[in-house]
This record gives sequence, C-alpha cells and structure tokens, in this order.
Amino acid sequence: MLIPDIASVDTKPYDMRYLIDGEVRTWSGAHIDVLSPIEDEHGKRTVLGRAPKLSKEEALSALAAAKRAWSNGRGEWPTMRVQDRIRCVERFTKGMLAVREDIVRLLMLEIGKSRKDSESEVDRTMVYIKDTIEALKELDRASGRFVMQDGFIGQTRRSPLGVALCMGPFNYPLNETFTTLIPALIMGNAIVSKLPKYGTLLHAPMFQAMAESFPKGVINIVQGDGATVVGPMMESGDVDVLAFIGSSRVANILKKQHPRPNRLRCILGLEAKNPAFVLEDADLDVAIPECVSGALSFNGQRCTGLKLIFVHETRAREFAERFAAAVSKLKAGAPWEPGVQITPLPEEGKSPWLQGYIDDAVQKGAKLIAGGKAQGTLFIPGVLTGVTSAMRIFHEEQFGPLVPIASYTDERELDAFMQASPYGQQVAIFGKSPAAIARLVDALANQVSRINLNTQCRRGPDTFPFTGRKDSAEATLSVHDALRAFSIRTVVATSASDANKAIVSDIVTTRRSAFLSTDYVF
Ligand code: G3H
Repeated sequence: MLIPDIASVDTKPYDMRYLIDGEVRTWSGAHIDVLSPIEDEHGKRTVLGRAPKLSKEEALSALAAAKRAWSNGRGEWPTMRVQDRIRCVERFTKGMLAVREDIVRLLMLEIGKSRKDSESEVDRTMVYIKDTIEALKELDRASGRFVMQDGFIGQTRRSPLGVALCMGPFNYPLNETFTTLIPALIMGNAIVSKLPKYGTLLHAPMFQAMAESFPKGVINIVQGDGATVVGPMMESGDVDVLAFIGSSRVANILKKQHPRPNRLRCILGLEAKNPAFVLEDADLDVAIPECVSGALSFNGQRCTGLKLIFVHETRAREFAERFAAAVSKLKAGAPWEPGVQITPLPEEGKSPWLQGYIDDAVQKGAKLIAGGKAQGTLFIPGVLTGVTSAMRIFHEEQFGPLVPIASYTDERELDAFMQASPYGQQVAIFGKSPAAIARLVDALANQVSRINLNTQCRRGPDTFPFTGRKDSAEATLSVHDALRAFSIRTVVATSASDANKAIVSDIVTTRRSAFLSTDYVF
C-alpha cells in the first residue's frame, strides 16, 4: 500500500519537535524513526518522520519548567481565575481545529486508524474539551456559595494538585491523552506529557497553539524512551499526579519509582478482559453485530473491547457460524479506503504475538473457524471456538483482531469467570429474560464498573463514569469526575461571629481574594 495524496502529510514542520517552557524546540540529539504500519513498495513500514529521543536532562528540564509554572501553587496559572483559564483553553481549541486535517491524517498513518474513526477521535476530543469547560463552569457556580453549619461559615472550592505527568496510550493517542491532560490543565495544574510510542507525530501540529495559549511551562511535551525520560521524572519526587493509560506492569514500575508514594495521586486506566455473555434466549440479530463491533472495532485494540465471548451451549454452534460469517465480511484495507473496518496494526511483532495465542489454543483443542492470518501488517481477524480455561487467550488480554468464543452451561460459570479474573472493567450481557439479566446484574455489580445490556462495552457517552475494579483502573474518568480527580477540596472556614462575618464580607465585596469570592463564570 502506498500512501496516496489524500492521506499524506508534510511532516517536515513537525520533525524532532517538542515543547518545553512555552517554546517549541527542535532536538538535535538522537531520534526515533516514526514508522507507519502502512508498508512501502519493499514491504517495509514507511518512515513518516523523526521524533526526538530526549535525554534524561531534557526530560528533567521539562519537569523543572512545570515546577516553575506551579511555583508551589503560587504561579500565574494555578492562581488564575477560572474564566481566564477557560479563555486560554478556548484559544488553544481554535488552534487545534486549524490543524484538524493533519491530526486526522497522522492518526491514519501512525496507528492505522480508519479515516472515519480518526475523524471521530479528533471530533470527540473537541466535544470533550467543550463539555469539560461547561462542567467546570457548573462546578465553579456551585462552589461560589457559603455554607453555615454548627456555628461555622465555610466556603469550599476545588484547588489544583501540582505537577501532573500525563501519558496516553497508542490506541487513542489523542483522545486518551487529552481526557486527562485537559481536565488536569483547566483545574490549574502544570503538565508534563510523555507521548506514546506509536501516535507521537500527530501531537506536533498542536505545539505552537499550546505555546501561544498558555503561560510558559504550563504544558510541556516530551518524547523518547520511557525508562530514560519518565523514570528520572518519577524518581525526582516532583510529580504530584500520575495520569497513565496503559499496562498495570508499567504503572506499577512508575509508582514504585516515586520516593514519596503518599504524595503521589494516581489516575490509571489499565488492562481489561471484558467478556460478553450471550444467554440462552439472546436475540442473535442484536448480539452478533454488537459482538463483532465490540470485539473488532479498531482491530480489537480498545481497552473496552470484548476480549472473550461466552455463549450458552444451546446457541453456541449457531452463534459461532453466524459470527464467523459476519467477521469474514469485514472489509480489510488501508485506513483511507471508504468503508474499511480492518486496518494495519501499528505494534511491531503483533501478528506473531496473536499467532502464539492461536497455536496455544488450537494445540489445546480449540478450532480456528475464520481468518487468523497475517498479510504484512494486516491481520485478518481470527475466530476461535471451543476456548477453555486451559488456554492462554481465556485469561490474557489479546488487544488485537482475534476473538475467542467459549460455551457455558450454567450461569454460575459466568460469575466464576469474573470472580477469578484479575480485571474488572465492564461486561456485556445479551439476553431477553428480565429474571436472568437481573440475577447476573446483581452477581456482577460489585465485580465490574459497567454492565452493558444488549449492547457492547464502551467508554462513552463521556459523561458516564469510566473506571474499573481490581487491576483495571484507579480513579474515575468522566467529564465531571476528571475535574475532581485532578483537584482537591480546600475549605476556608471561620466561626460565625459578627467580627468574622465582617472580615469575610469585606473580602468578598471588595474582591480582595481570587479564592474567597462569590464570583463565578456563566
Ligand atoms: O481504549 C479504551 C478507550 O477508552 C475505549 O473507548 O469504548 O469509546 O472505544 P471506546
């Protein structure tokens, strides 16, 4: 596949760029080739451009810039009035909109996301920013009032936490980076963001707008090898908040590197093994398209994706045949092709990794009834039936286009699967009987964080809480919850004597304080 004009991007202006202390810099040291899963005429991954492989010293200078912007909470940004912070974010959003097409194309080229899904990732992120602004205004209005309780007067507002290190994943490199970065920023924290390994260049078109929209050092963007760049920042103890979407293995390493763990707040989105439960009376006209899309949207590379399908034994054969037929109809091709559903995989070594799951399962008695073949960087989706707990794919997150189907006899097996799982993000139940659904809801409500009825697992709408139990998450992200996660409540309290009332009244009416104030934004 050669990259056509309708998808190509001139990456020269983005070559080796990063952002520190309000300055878009060009790195002259080591670099990382940014490889596309789109293969060139020699069958090799196309080199899209170069990203800086920053040194430890440069990473620490980004952290120092953020620390200066924070200035122990006395910096311009953390003390700025809410309406002025909102203005900065709105200014940035205009700059982001101006480079929308380059971001969309780089999403297609860097991670192989279809044009439709790439556009939706950018547009959904813009809506998320707009909704975050509205949620902040609402929070600010609610915080403006004084409470009288037990002889005390108190006013409670949410204050920023300090320096936040935000790291998004490769599958939603824009959206999932911004769903932590934007709420952290707008609450008044100073940010260092380390970009993911795949999905880095697409951030560079926004650097200038970031530099122009915020005070110096408020946003810093670094890239490079995680151990070199992130390790020293964590070890410095100067990171107050870690927002990380990725594996629990890496999250645990990062947390342990911090010398004062009690001072570190963590907002983590980690692995999941979300199952679908197709009950005896399920409407397969609903369950099959939902399971196909749930398991294979963006080639199964979604943390919310369905990673294991349990079908009642009486429907297992019919389900598998119809499911495999539907999967075989998915159009595979380049991300810019209209109607494409299966696209090249960005991670090197992904096809052999998926093949390993197939080999293990087939060797232990499963059947590969569709696909499961690599064609260069494309992987034609595989469907495995007869999957059992003896197989690796029953337990591990495959994060790719391979769908394992297991059959069950008794509902208690479904509950037992969730109990034994180290993960607890979501489940999807397909069925008609209110009694059976109610029983499962009650069995699962304390094991996962979202139960989807006759619909696939997903994160949206973004006002819904997005979190998980066990090794799947720490803290909750929704438009509203994220503002709370990146802030702490601070209360100003006094006994309600006439003298104290007069002091508070003077401060408020003469607007002496930005914090102790009844001003709010509409
Ligand atoms: O990879 C995890 C994403 O947050 C999933 O979001 O359910 O909207 O695809 P989604």
